[in-house]
Amino acid sequence: MKIHLIAAARPNFMKIAPLYHELKRNSSFTVKIIHTGQHYDKNMSDDFFTDLHLPSPDIHLGVGGGSHAEQVGNTMIAYEKVCTEEKPDLVVVVGDVNATMACSITAKKLHIAVAHLEAGIRSFDRAMPEEINRMVTDSICDLYWTPSVDGNENLVREGIASGRIALVGNIMIASLEMMRSENQSETIGGKYNLTKNGYVVVTFHRPSNVDTKEKLESLLFVLKKVQEKTPVIFPVHPRTKNNIEKFGLNGKLKDSGIICTEPLSYKKFMNLIFSCKYVLTDSGGIQEETTYLGIPCLTVRDNTERPITVTKGTNTLVSIKNIISEVEKIEAGNYRKGEIPVLWDGKTAIRVVQEIEKFFRQK
Ligand code: UD1
Repeated sequence: MKIHLIAAARPNFMKIAPLYHELKRNSSFTVKIIHTGQHYDKNMSDDFFTDLHLPSPDIHLGVGGGSHAEQVGNTMIAYEKVCTEEKPDLVVVVGDVNATMACSITAKKLHIAVAHLEAGIRSFDRAMPEEINRMVTDSICDLYWTPSVDGNENLVREGIASGRIALVGNIMIASLEMMRSENQSETIGGKYNLTKNGYVVVTFHRPSNVDTKEKLESLLFVLKKVQEKTPVIFPVHPRTKNNIEKFGLNGKLKDSGIICTEPLSYKKFMNLIFSCKYVLTDSGGIQEETTYLGIPCLTVRDNTERPITVTKGTNTLVSIKNIISEVEKIEAGNYRKGEIPVLWDGKTAIRVVQEIEKFFRQK
């Protein structure tokens, strides 16, 4: 059985890795990694393959950056050629990036079965490009593997037959557990004189936070205030870096005392997360990793497609203007403790492989 695992952008690599390693244990599968090329810098792509013990992609589409239509269109054109030649039996797409949607549409139009890992989650905010990708992907797939019960509920409400949906748990947590000892043996904090539980990790890359000068400037202003209390380390995403330069905000960041780094590899980044006091972010996956580790996480967004991290976990949605009041709760030791959601246990890839075996048996 030929299976394609589609990966495009940084968070996808952590999602395919545990599944790739689990599938390779089973000789009835031929697994190929298809990298669409949406993320292409070494520190946004190759370093993740190295850290996660993944081989180089079997096929690289080399699509690169561009507008949404360019990325989606170019990915579809390139992947259609691959599918026509390779004729996979199953295409597995992960997460919610442009390639998730582009490759699902391409494969389905060629009558190839498609499975979505991390299906069903919704922010209900159609201004987010990822929400469109999730909705379109989930309207045409054959198999839906969800990380949490809300994913099942959303899919059923959207008319998906419950027999196609399986709650498999959180695949990011499977990566975290697969890599735990290697992540813990990194020593990135020491390089910047950061002490255990004595620093804040910051990441921002969402268009809603970094694509206008006004938002980005006020965010940097608040980060400076946060830094006055506890040292801040900020691995800067290329989108954010480009915009800081474009809006002439470089000086503000330099004067702030914040430790800025290039984007970090998986092991280095997770090492920082393991020992931090709290996280300020707009990422999706980090909301989940912090919930699992019981670390306070302030997410600067109006909504989240991962509501379980707020209702059960350690995540709080904040606006830029109320970051400081939430930070004060954390600094005072008054932040709530969370719980780990059901099936966030490191065994998600095993369950997914069982679902794949079941699918092929029934075919
Ligand atoms: C994409 C995903 C987002 C995910 C994020 C993780 C979509 C719609 N967005 O957003 O869901 O959370 O990845 O990082 O799929 N760039 C580089 N080098 C790289 C990659 C990007 O310089 O290796 C530049 C691009 O040229 C572009 C900018 O960074 O100017 C944004 O990249 P893009 O892939 O369009 O979107 P992300 O913001 O990374």
